[in-house]
Amino acid sequence: MPQTDLYAVFGSPIKHSKSPFIHRQFAQQTQQNIDYHAQLVDAENFDTAVENFFQQGGKGLNCTVPLKELAWQRADQLSARAEMSKAVNTLVLQRDGSLLGDNTDGIGLVTDLTQNHAIPLAGKKLLILGAGGATRGILLPLQSKNVLDITIANRTVNKALNLADEFKSNGKITGCGFDDLQNQQFDLILNATSASLSNQLPPLPENILKPGAVCYDLAYANEDTPFVQWGKQHQASKSLDGLGMLVEQAAAAFFIWRGIQPETFHVISALHHVT
Ligand code: ATR
Repeated sequence: MPQTDLYAVFGSPIKHSKSPFIHRQFAQQTQQNIDYHAQLVDAENFDTAVENFFQQGGKGLNCTVPLKELAWQRADQLSARAEMSKAVNTLVLQRDGSLLGDNTDGIGLVTDLTQNHAIPLAGKKLLILGAGGATRGILLPLQSKNVLDITIANRTVNKALNLADEFKSNGKITGCGFDDLQNQQFDLILNATSASLSNQLPPLPENILKPGAVCYDLAYANEDTPFVQWGKQHQASKSLDGLGMLVEQAAAAFFIWRGIQPETFHVISALHHVT
């Protein structure tokens, strides 16, 4: 009987995590003998839970809210994209027992945009709403796609300015407040604020979408998020939520762990039907 390899997602809250469903689908499809479960872990017991998990034979971990920064601190080595994002969503046990930290959120977003939705990024003007951890996690993978420029707009303007300054060596990037968006137009607007979680919407000027522009909310919900609704009301050519990004970040983690790229189309469709 081949050995079952152990994986898990840690977070709080975790009950409604879709990651076990996604990874079990990937495992079935690719005939990988893995067990993947969700475990409620708070910031206070993160280090102990990680130690226990790997001592019990764990091979890899996903970390979600509120543990991504702690996982970044815990990792013994970091990929370049994880290092810049100051957040780790994937830990991998190395042969020597050390833990490699990676962040697959940004590549998950880029894959969903470019491959699942055929939205080109090269030469495009991007606006990112929010300057927190979610924005930090996606900047480098977006910049690596030769976008024309990125504007980060945030309620607390200083955070947008600081983040733009930190990432300016990788491409043209500016920070500003929402008021500074008047008279500007963009090809793609990404909502990376946590406003959707409280059913709110960042204040946006009416004419901010270029013809054919796309709106994308990194959050997802059973119904359209306020930002997805806003995009539809303002004639965005596409107004999408982050369910595809969720599946693609999981696929990238699965590839890191197992060396096999799972098929995502049917998993995304299945999630649309169960949500
Ligand atoms: P995350 O890790 O999800 O990015 P975070 O680091 O706490 O979470 O960042 C949340 C982001 O959403 C911030 O950019 C926050 O703006 P501030 O920096 O001004 O706090 C933004 N945000 C949250 N609620 C918002 C709202 N109702 N309107 C606009 N921006 C909001």
